[in-house]
Amino acid sequence: MSEAQAIYLKDYKAPAFSIEDVNLRFELFEEYALVTNVMNIQKVDTGVQELSLHCRDLELLEFWINDLKLQDTRYVLEEEKLTILNVPSVFSIKIINKIYPQNNTELEGLYKSGSIFCTQNEPEGFRSITPYLDRPDVMSVFTTTIVADKEKYPVLLGNGNKKESFDLGKRHSVTWHDPHPKPSYLFALVAGDLGSISDEYITASGENVELNIYCDLGNESKCHHAMKSLKEAMLWDEEKYGREYDLEIYNIVAVDSFNMGAMENKGLNIFNSAYVLADEDSASDANFMGIQSVIAHEYFHNWTGNRITCRDWFQLTLKEGLTVFRDQCFSADLNSQEVQRIEDVKSLRERQFVEDASPTAHPIQPKSYISMNNFYTATVYEKGAEVIRMIHTLLGEELYRKATDLYFETFDGQAVTTKDFLWAMSSASGVDLSAFELWYHQSGTPKLKVEEKFENGVYTLTLTQVIPNTVEGRAQKPYFFPLKIALLDEDAKEVVTETLKVSKESESFHFEGFNLKPVLSINRDFSAPIIIEQEYNNFAFLMKHDTNGFVKYEAAQIFAIETIEAIMRGEEVNPRFSEAYGHLLDLEGDLSYKALLLELPTVSTLMQRMSDIDFDVIYEAKEKLSQHLAQNFQEKLLAIYEVNHEPGSFGMDALAISKRAIKNRALKILSALETRDVIEIAKRQYEESVTMTDRVVALDVLENTDPEYAEVTLADFYSKYKKQTLVMNKYFSILAASHREGTLDRVMALQNDAVYDEKVPNLVRSLIGVFARNYKHFHAKNGYGYKFVADKIIEIDKINPQMASGLCGAFKIYNKMNEKNKSMMKVELSRIISTHELSKNSFEIISKILK
Ligand code: PHE
Ligand code: ZN
Repeated sequence: MSEAQAIYLKDYKAPAFSIEDVNLRFELFEEYALVTNVMNIQKVDTGVQELSLHCRDLELLEFWINDLKLQDTRYVLEEEKLTILNVPSVFSIKIINKIYPQNNTELEGLYKSGSIFCTQNEPEGFRSITPYLDRPDVMSVFTTTIVADKEKYPVLLGNGNKKESFDLGKRHSVTWHDPHPKPSYLFALVAGDLGSISDEYITASGENVELNIYCDLGNESKCHHAMKSLKEAMLWDEEKYGREYDLEIYNIVAVDSFNMGAMENKGLNIFNSAYVLADEDSASDANFMGIQSVIAHEYFHNWTGNRITCRDWFQLTLKEGLTVFRDQCFSADLNSQEVQRIEDVKSLRERQFVEDASPTAHPIQPKSYISMNNFYTATVYEKGAEVIRMIHTLLGEELYRKATDLYFETFDGQAVTTKDFLWAMSSASGVDLSAFELWYHQSGTPKLKVEEKFENGVYTLTLTQVIPNTVEGRAQKPYFFPLKIALLDEDAKEVVTETLKVSKESESFHFEGFNLKPVLSINRDFSAPIIIEQEYNNFAFLMKHDTNGFVKYEAAQIFAIETIEAIMRGEEVNPRFSEAYGHLLDLEGDLSYKALLLELPTVSTLMQRMSDIDFDVIYEAKEKLSQHLAQNFQEKLLAIYEVNHEPGSFGMDALAISKRAIKNRALKILSALETRDVIEIAKRQYEESVTMTDRVVALDVLENTDPEYAEVTLADFYSKYKKQTLVMNKYFSILAASHREGTLDRVMALQNDAVYDEKVPNLVRSLIGVFARNYKHFHAKNGYGYKFVADKIIEIDKINPQMASGLCGAFKIYNKMNEKNKSMMKVELSRIISTHELSKNSFEIISKILK
């Protein structure tokens, strides 16, 4: 892989040409597709003589400039670009080229998902459809005509509003026109024999919007939750941000083969079917939540992404960080603030903190990339959202709204930078954000050392920032961030509640007038994405009494982490932890929240504080604590289970969902005992329950406790659901995540299952991806886990490089592993990187890990 070239932000140059409008005509056939592309182009930089268009693997059939057919002396066609020599200042180009969507396994550009033609163009897929200035700062008005067989492809969809359609005998055509100028990455088309459900939405200013959700025939009844979520999102954006929808029609199409979650193409979102289809029998509560949030996320992009887009791909967090923050707030408003915040922080820590501590760490605005596809990361998305959240905290609700209004007014219709966003935030609010900007440019998770002093009634809090160096070893500067704290008296009353503005490497804050030393409740609501380092704190007190839902959870987590670390050092379970945990079991109130409080830290959380990681040791210690708690609180846990177990009811209301959450948490903790009673409960739950949530938990418990029952129930599950791929993903995941002996062999065998298909990303993720995160078997001491995943990466890299580089992520903890595992990993990493014709996607990740 010698030709892997990095692109740098500092090399950005404004485009030399603009494309006023573009007319596309797609003739779709079974073997190939013909694309006719007519563009009106203008020189912006008059000093430039030649026009260089992006293109990838294209077969050029005809090429015209201003109605003159071009001879091949006037242009140069290379693998990645098409250069036209000596162009005038205003001209039109017509290109006819041929592509092969049927052979496209990378799922970028125009491809087929099953029998549906669809597209995925972000970030740089459009160049494999037709030659173009495929960069987000070139915005144009698109008109698209799709021509295809009438019977096979009765539904033909494009961006914008539908203009006209023609019956051409065996074939037919439909033309779509999108009045809003947009970059090519937002272009989409779909052709297929699709089912759909329809609805309408009336905007705040009285405009009628037609809403359609398309899916494979027969799945229509599974689209209603997505439709409901869409309407909720439309209303929320009007109320919270004053943003209305801007076309006559909003289409969503669900496809089975998709590299990511979903895509916000203007007026024509294309979704991974996992984020559209759901009904009570086949989807879990988490699936329902996921759909609500992804549907909203893509809808919110219409303003934060489409109306205002990114100048270049280094600005990705401009749209993604902001849109994730928006969808997080939406989900919190519709469900529970506390639960949503904890879930978001959990995911940030498990994915983003790990990334930020790895060789692939990067700022939310990276400085360079080899493959842009590798930068759709937890850092750009989730840390990006935390950065927006901090701005929101610093400005307060009202000024934040004033600032977003200014952002939309000023930059509507433009491709802008994160600097432009920050300008709007600070100039509308008067809050100086110049020191805040560092969050965009530095990588790594900052640590905050906390020291407390109490003397003569004065409480002093000294905060010291420990800023990690860059991956390359360069020193970085301290940050500016809001830190929500409270000081609690012995009755847990908030005596002081404040948002500190931390900006120095080290600073002290003084609070007067105490008789007794108060208890510190710090980083409330997780107001900054940092790691707090404290010598000692009153975790038990905070677990029991803190009035901030997040800190209460946090105290339980940290106390559990410290307890498990002590077990790893050979100590017994700390009885004070056990006692505080027992207290949580008695809590009243929101059961979903309680279920989170009772969850023990994940292995991925535990390993973050360690070096020379040995997963077997971590597992063993965690198991020991689980068993101790299960034993100690067996009766209470069983009682919680029985009270909340309602096998016969679906119920998708908050109460029903939270009852399932708490009773399944109780069941999982109890399962550490591996007693007959508990196994029977799981078996009964599988047999009686009518929800997918209950069935999956029961299967998972059985798989990890009783091989015999597991086999029978899994076979039953398989025969019931083998026709529903989305459900089969769950089946594969349970088996791939199993702790049982022989898991690797079974995963290998499952690749030959009739349902499994290496070309479908969801299936690869649920079998291979989940196995690569199975700490026990992936990191097995015989090295077979590593070898298997490396084999898969090499194989899948040839089919779909984006999928392959995603799997490479499993090796990111290489540096932190113990010597034995590390040396086995190194063999496999070296084997991957020396593979002939490895994609630049996988090359970029593996080379960073090996550096
Ligand atoms: N822009 C999409 C989103 O966040 C994500 C995506 C990126 C999808 C690249 C496909 C390819 O909503
Ligand atoms: Zn997004």
